[in-house]
Amino acid sequence: MQRQAAPLLLLALFWAALAAPAHGWDMSMTSLADKLGDAIEVKGIQQGSIQSKLPLVLNVWPFVNATMAGWAALNNGSSSTPWLDAVEKVGNHCEDFPSQCGWSVGYGSNADESGDVTLDAMIMRGDTMDAGAVAYLKDVCNAISAARLVMEHTPHTILAGGAATQFAQQMGLPLQTLNTQRSTQAWQQRVAANCTPNCRVDVEPANSFSMAAIGTDGKMAAGSTTNGWFFKVPGRTGDSSVPGAAAYVDGEVGACGCTGQGDINLRFLMCYQAVEFMRGGMDPKLAAEAALRRIVRRYSGAGATFGLFAVNATGYHGGAAFGWERDNMTQWMAGNPQAPEQLQQAVFPWAYAYQDAGTGGKAVWVEVEDLSRIPEPQQSGRR
Ligand SMILES: *[C@@H]1O[C@H](CO)[C@@H](O)[C@H](O)[C@H]1NC(C)=O
Ligand SMILES: *[C@@H]1O[C@H](CO)[C@@H](O)[C@H](O)[C@H]1NC(C)=O
Ligand SMILES: *[C@@H]1O[C@H](CO)[C@@H](O)[C@H](O)[C@H]1NC(C)=O
Ligand SMILES: *[C@@H]1O[C@H](CO)[C@@H](O)[C@H](O)[C@H]1NC(C)=O
Repeated sequence: MQRQAAPLLLLALFWAALAAPAHGWDMSMTSLADKLGDAIEVKGIQQGSIQSKLPLVLNVWPFVNATMAGWAALNNGSSSTPWLDAVEKVGNHCEDFPSQCGWSVGYGSNADESGDVTLDAMIMRGDTMDAGAVAYLKDVCNAISAARLVMEHTPHTILAGGAATQFAQQMGLPLQTLNTQRSTQAWQQRVAANCTPNCRVDVEPANSFSMAAIGTDGKMAAGSTTNGWFFKVPGRTGDSSVPGAAAYVDGEVGACGCTGQGDINLRFLMCYQAVEFMRGGMDPKLAAEAALRRIVRRYSGAGATFGLFAVNATGYHGGAAFGWERDNMTQWMAGNPQAPEQLQQAVFPWAYAYQDAGTGGKAVWVEVEDLSRIPEPQQSGRR
């Protein structure tokens, strides 16, 4: 914690203590519910892991239609791997028109420095530990489908760049430009602004979209898909294409999906870590918190944003987030057509507080100190 941040931290903690329990979080839940409509039961602040009956599909961020697309696939009686199909379909929903899921996924946004939109995606199955991924993929819209083809038709794990495009085409995926008027205009504006102060350190993050699914038989898969950062340096690939980083699954244990600053997550493999914590017997929510703590102890400055969910083989799921502004905290959707609640949404406000007064509505990040309110899990040993 930097010294000069301490007064802000105290202010934020004070605000959080006063305002949050009374109405702060509730207001946000209400507006979120309004936005998302009656299809959703809002669970409120997640206190511990939530159990959902199987089958179950989860994804980060409240893109309910993507979750629904996963449910449809999970309940396809003629597929022998509905849980794997579900992960692919959740990803496809966001990759395809008109969803785009906040423009962090699929074509038409976040061109790189050279003006090209490129995609990263990964898919993994928990029964065989097979995984496939594509990195810096051009001209193919359904990146997670290309990743599945890598998994099912090669002995490799990651294919990158133009050769990944060629592979996807050979496997039957259609080629299309990923640039649109929207992405090209945004890129041109950025170029016209002359890249001040420095394009290569002033890159705009985009969040990975990650998901997991568990079938009635307990078999599970996980995956991730994204178009990466706006104006990224050509060649950059993020955590979405790396098993263990943006998503991970081990059928003997559970699964994880995350979002946030992928370049930093690649150094910590947050999802691998969360699954490993669960393997050690940790509750999913504690596992998510402990994996996140690994990162924010080292990277907690302004702009550090991370969030993840972890789910174990019996359908208990929990999560943790750090660094998002009040209204943009990490959420996940969890869907189960056989459960009365239909759809759950959990949020985790403990990692930050939002402070209106004195900062013109800007967020104040409450960093590692907030994580320390959560007891250090026994299993984690030396943090
Ligand atoms: C989700 O699907 C419903 C029903 O097809 C549609 O009316 C709605 O606009 C979709 N929402 C989003 C955000 O795409
Ligand atoms: C159900 O699964 C079968 C076998 O994988 C597939 O051919 C079919 O397209 C799927 N149906 C739907 C609606 O996804
Ligand atoms: C999943 O987590 C719950 C809650 O911590 C725990 O009771 C259950 O035993 C876990 N299941 C597995 C298979 O680890
Ligand atoms: C949340 O994110 C949206 C979309 O990126 C942005 O328009 C909005 O200003 C953000 N809200 C806050 C409170 O930062």
